[in-house]
Amino acid sequence: MRVRRLAAGTADLLDPGSSLWSKAETGTFELIPTPLAMQPSAYVRASREQRPFGRVREVEVRVLHDGEHVAFLLAWDDPDRDVEPPGDERFPDGAALLFPLASDAPLVTMGAEGRAVNAWHWRADRPERARNNVAAGLGTTRVTQDASIATSARWDHGRWRVVFRRTLASTAPAGEAVRMKPGDAVLVAFAVWDGSNGERGGLKSFSPAWHTITLEG
Ligand code: HEM
Repeated sequence: MRVRRLAAGTADLLDPGSSLWSKAETGTFELIPTPLAMQPSAYVRASREQRPFGRVREVEVRVLHDGEHVAFLLAWDDPDRDVEPPGDERFPDGAALLFPLASDAPLVTMGAEGRAVNAWHWRADRPERARNNVAAGLGTTRVTQDASIATSARWDHGRWRVVFRRTLASTAPAGEAVRMKPGDAVLVAFAVWDGSNGERGGLKSFSPAWHTITLEG
C-alpha cells in the first residue's frame, strides 16, 4: 500500500471524519482469531473452547504522512460500542498496530527473543492516547513510558473509526518504538478486540501476515 505524502500538516487527520482521508489509498485486510492452542493461560484455553472469539473479521486501513507525522485510520464493524473499563465479563473495544523492530520478527508469536515487535494499542476506555507496547514473544508484552501516540475515535452506526498519529521519528529508547522516514517501506499488521465478546489480551482477531506500506518520499 502506498502512503501518500500531504503538503499540509496532519493535524486535521486526528479527526476520523476529515475529508483529507479521501486522499488515501484504502487497504482491506482479513482478520482471523488468534489460535486458541497458543493462548498461554490454561483457563483461557478451557473457557473459550465453546465461546468463539475474534469476532471482527475485516479492517479497512488508510495511512497518510506529511514528512513529520504518520496517521493511520482503522475502520471496522462492531454493533456494540464498548467503552467501559475492563469488568468481569465485558471489556472495552480495542485495536492495535504491530510493527517488527527486527526485520525477521515473527508476527504470530508477537516477536521472539532478540526479535522484538512494537504495538500501538488503542482502547475505547482511554480514547485519546495509544499505549506503546514492546513484546519479544507471547507472555512478554510490556507497556513503555512513551505517550507520543495520539488517537481519536468515533463510533457511528455500528462502525468504529480510529486514528493513530505519531511522529515518524521517535524519541523513545532504541528497541522500544518503530522509526520511520519518508521513502521507507514499513511492515505492519493489525489486531481488533471486541470487548462485549470478552476479548482482551491474547483474545482478539489479527491479520496473519505482515503488510508493506511505502511512505512517499
Ligand atoms: C497484529 C497482531 C497482534 C497485535 C497488534 C497484538 C497486540 C497486542 C497488545 C497491544 C497486547 C497488550 C494487550 C493489553 O495490554 O491488554 C497483546 C497481548 C497479548 N497478545 Fe497480542 N497482538 C497480536 C497478535 C497476537 C497473536 C497472533 C497472539 C497469539 C495467541 C497474541 C497473544 C497475546 C497474548 C497472550 C497477550 C497477553 C499478554 C502477553 O501474554 O504478553 N497476540 N497483544
